[in-house]
Amino acid sequence: MLKGRNLIEPGDYSLEEMDGLFSVAEKIEDDKNYLRESCRGKLLATLFFEPSTRTRLSFEAAMLRLGGSCLGFAEPGSSSAAKGESLSDTIRTVACYADAIVMRNPKEGAALLASRVSGVPVINAGDGGHHHPTQTLTDLLTIRRLRGELGNLTIGFCGDLKFGRTVHSLAKALSRYPGVKEIFISPPELKVPGYITQGVLEKEMIPYKEAEKLEDVIGDLDVLYMTRVQRERFFNEEDYIRLKDFYVLTKDKMKNAKKEMVILHPLPRVNEIAAEVDDDPRAVYFKQARYGMYIRMALLASILGALC
Ligand code: NCD
Repeated sequence: MLKGRNLIEPGDYSLEEMDGLFSVAEKIEDDKNYLRESCRGKLLATLFFEPSTRTRLSFEAAMLRLGGSCLGFAEPGSSSAAKGESLSDTIRTVACYADAIVMRNPKEGAALLASRVSGVPVINAGDGGHHHPTQTLTDLLTIRRLRGELGNLTIGFCGDLKFGRTVHSLAKALSRYPGVKEIFISPPELKVPGYITQGVLEKEMIPYKEAEKLEDVIGDLDVLYMTRVQRERFFNEEDYIRLKDFYVLTKDKMKNAKKEMVILHPLPRVNEIAAEVDDDPRAVYFKQARYGMYIRMALLASILGALC
């Protein structure tokens, strides 16, 4: 039972608990009336200290579709954070009003801190370059739905693997499934951090390798996870400009990919996937965005105790 639980990083939930969420999300996809009014009278606070389109709107859409309501802010300038209020005080206050809090914050560890002072469950919607567990649930549901299983696959993560929190969370989450191989494709400056490779993959004996050229490995992949270069986490603009177009997935490069490979992207996309790829049936990133709403409906219903 997930009632009353926080979600700060992917490892917080067992594989069985995640499976339960995937099954609920799949039921919602198949039957639009399932859980429809199950959160009536409940309030969700969405506190976004960093920009967002999909995460915030899909949480709000999820809550509204469950019959609940939302309040919050989409940028910190309109909250008392702009007056110097501490995160702890903001969270303690919002917990007096809402039944659950979804928070995105530029500081690593902010969601964990919030969960320690909050009187209601906290869901991490991204803490700096660290984790983004509900994007991971979205990614896993997409893979499970479109590939049939979560084990026995080779996934390639491509782009900014240093700052990309969605990569860190998904790489860690997939290490819990049998037969998974991970390939990290990045320029040397944007390599995946050691706390994922040594700290997680080597410990769990997950086969992985690093590559610089997408062309060298694309033919081996069952899933290609593209990411944008995280401009807001760079210390200087010159480095960003030098690295931003390092990878551009084109129709031509897709010729060497397997027929059943799927391309995921947490979005927003900048230049890393050419628009001409969107028509390829293997490009599933907009479907993925829809799965993000279903899984967040399943998560909110579970955390708020609306599942019988
Ligand atoms: C991602 C994020 O915020 O980490 N976006 C999202 O939530 N779908 C990816 C990104 O911003 O590049």
